[in-house]
Amino acid sequence: SDIEKGTYPHYMLKEMDEQPTVIRKIIQAYEGENGDLTIDANILEALRAADRLYIIAAGTSYHAGLIGKQYFEKMAGIPVEVHISSEFGYNMPLLSEKPLFIFITQSGETADSRQVLVKIKELGYPTLTITNVPGSTLSREADHTLLLHAGPEIAVASTKAYVAQVAVLAVTAYVTAKANGKGLEFDLKQELAIAANGIQTIIDSKDVLEDIAEDYLKIARNAFFIGRNIDFYVSLEGALKLKEISYIQAEGFAGGELKHGTIALIEEGTPVFALVTQEAVSLNIRGNVKEVAARGAYPCIIAMAGVDEDGDRLVIPQVHEYLTPLVSVVPLQLISYYAALHRRCDVDKPRNLAKSVTVE
Ligand code: AGP
Repeated sequence: SDIEKGTYPHYMLKEMDEQPTVIRKIIQAYEGENGDLTIDANILEALRAADRLYIIAAGTSYHAGLIGKQYFEKMAGIPVEVHISSEFGYNMPLLSEKPLFIFITQSGETADSRQVLVKIKELGYPTLTITNVPGSTLSREADHTLLLHAGPEIAVASTKAYVAQVAVLAVTAYVTAKANGKGLEFDLKQELAIAANGIQTIIDSKDVLEDIAEDYLKIARNAFFIGRNIDFYVSLEGALKLKEISYIQAEGFAGGELKHGTIALIEEGTPVFALVTQEAVSLNIRGNVKEVAARGAYPCIIAMAGVDEDGDRLVIPQVHEYLTPLVSVVPLQLISYYAALHRRCDVDKPRNLAKSVTVE
C-alpha cells in the first residue's frame, strides 16, 4: 500500500522519491474536461471575490505560503499576507474589506492553525484549507478545501507535501489569474510536467547529494542557506530540513542580509549553501557567495541550468522561473537526509518532534 516503506530504509526517502509522481497526480486532479487546469467553481468564486488573501500556516507549510504569496500577487494581482499561525493572534492585522483566509496544512490538524480558523469563523470571514488529509479538522471546519493529493506523508520531515503545496498554490493562482483575464504567457500544466521531470533527474542522481552531504556536513557544527527572492524562501525550508533531522544548527536567510549581521558567524570551513535559480538576482547572490568565501566559508552553489557558471557544485534542471522551488528544494532535502544518516540520526522520527503539532 501507499503507506508501506517497501524496500525503502526510511519513509522520508520514499516520500522524496514520490515527488515527481505527486506533481503528475496534481496535474491530473486539477485537470478539467477540456484539459485545462481548473479548480472548484465555488472556490474560484471565493478567490475572485477577495480583495486580499491571508495565508495562515506553520513550519514547512508557512514556507510554502511565502511562495504562494508571490504566485497570487504576480500571476493574479491579488495582494497577499502570510502569517505564522501561532503569531497571528498577537498581531491580528487590520483586515481588508473582503478577506479570504487560506490555511495551508499538510495534516489539517495543527492546533496553532486551527485556533486562527476558529477565530476567523467567529468573525464570519470565508475560509479555505489546503491540506493533504481529506476529512481532517481544518478541512471539515473551513468553508472550502483544496487537496494536495500527495498521499500519506509519514516521515516527520515534510518533503512531498511541501512540493505539493507549492504546486497546488501555483495551480490555484494560475486558474484565478486566467479567470480574471490576466494574460499569462505560459502553460502551467506543461511547466509542471517539466518540473516533475526535473525533480526526477535530481532523484536519479542521489549519490551526488550524498557526496555533497559528506563533503560539507560530515563534521559541520552549523550551516547556512542563502538565496534571494524566491530562493530565499527555499533557503528557509532547506535550513529547517537540516535542523530537524540532522540536528545541525542551520539558518536560512536572504543573501542581502549577510552583511547586516550573520556574516560575523562565518569561520574557516563554515558550509554555506547558496541557491541560484533566478537570472535577475544571480549576480547579487554570487556576490554574497564571494563575500563569505573571502572570510573562509565553504560555499556550495546550487544553480539552475541557464544561470549556472563554472565551479557551481550542482546544476539542477531548468524549469519555469515561478516553479524553481519545486526542483531547488529537492537537493536540499536529500542533502539533509544524507547528513542525518551520516550522523546516525533517526531520520523519520527526529527527537522532540511529532508529525502534527496538536498543542498550541
Ligand atoms: C516540517 O518538516 C515540519 N515537521 C513542520 O514544520 C510542519 O510543516 C508544521 O508542523 C506544519 O504542519 P502542517 O502542515 O501539518 O500544519
